[in-house]
Amino acid sequence: MEKFRRFRRLRTSEAMRSFVRENELHASDFIYPVFVVAGRDKKIPVSSMPGVFQYSIDRIDEEIDEVASAGIPAILIFGIPDHKDDKATGAYDEHGVTQEAIRHIKDKYPDLIVIADVCLCEYTSTGHCGMVDDKGHILNDETLPLLTATAESMARAGADIVAPSDMMDGRVAAIREGLDAAGFELTPILAYSAKFASAYYGPFRDAAESAPKFGDRKTYQMDPANGREAMREIADDLDEGADMIIIKPAMAYLDICKEARLRFNVPLIAYNVSGEYAMIKAAAANGWIDEKRITLETLTGMKRAGADRIITYHAIEAAHWLQEK
Ligand code: PBG
Ligand code: ZN
Repeated sequence: MEKFRRFRRLRTSEAMRSFVRENELHASDFIYPVFVVAGRDKKIPVSSMPGVFQYSIDRIDEEIDEVASAGIPAILIFGIPDHKDDKATGAYDEHGVTQEAIRHIKDKYPDLIVIADVCLCEYTSTGHCGMVDDKGHILNDETLPLLTATAESMARAGADIVAPSDMMDGRVAAIREGLDAAGFELTPILAYSAKFASAYYGPFRDAAESAPKFGDRKTYQMDPANGREAMREIADDLDEGADMIIIKPAMAYLDICKEARLRFNVPLIAYNVSGEYAMIKAAAANGWIDEKRITLETLTGMKRAGADRIITYHAIEAAHWLQEK
């Protein structure tokens, strides 16, 4: 009988380590977020997210070609309209920027999975994810029909999956009912079930031009301190008809991913959000960290925590790094 266990036996070479590795990243794990802006001939850099751009539809192929050739199976699409109003009409306009972009992409890249983010904050003059009354309160139930109309118009434009990110109560049930009534009973709902009111979304709000004009999102997004409540949010979304779930953000919420993985047998997606991306990019630009190793380690941690797929701005670069290895 040996006196102690020699764990190091299985770490002697890269070949041996690779042979016993429990989790491995692949390009097929990734979902790449895409920002489409109204107008023509635009490729606008997002200053807080190096490497991320807003594209107009006539130039979006430049980016989608890269996604497809990197072997990434899916994109998450966000539209930035040229006009915002108090009813978020751009969100459910049949010829809105997002709908037209989806039509274009599905026509040109039929095998790419197009996930449409369903929310109102890019389209409302207030920058909030729901309707707002004259006291500045968010009107939950009044928002549901608009989210439903948005999801339907995305499905009609050809979206393969709709992903409500608004955090209104009852949105999944409302959207499911609306999609079914409109003949889209086979369009899956990917619910942002556990979405926390996070400071990590800062850079995204530059990219999507969706920062709230007053107040914050704390009355609808979750309190970062609450893990048990996240399980209730997920259970409810699944009861209402969600087919898949998102945990968001990822890095500071890997315990939520793990717990959800143990409890719910549905596809689980971690959203590696804009602020997480910006921190790595900033530190790497300063020469303080090894960008490639840190990025792959971070994404591997999300898989280890139980994520089946990862929404990440690192997707294209990470897919290339994985090919090099
Ligand atoms: C819109 C939405 C947000 C993100 C995805 N969809 C921002 C927010 O809720 O304020 C954040 C994504 C990121 O930070 O990368 N509801
Ligand atoms: Zn929103």
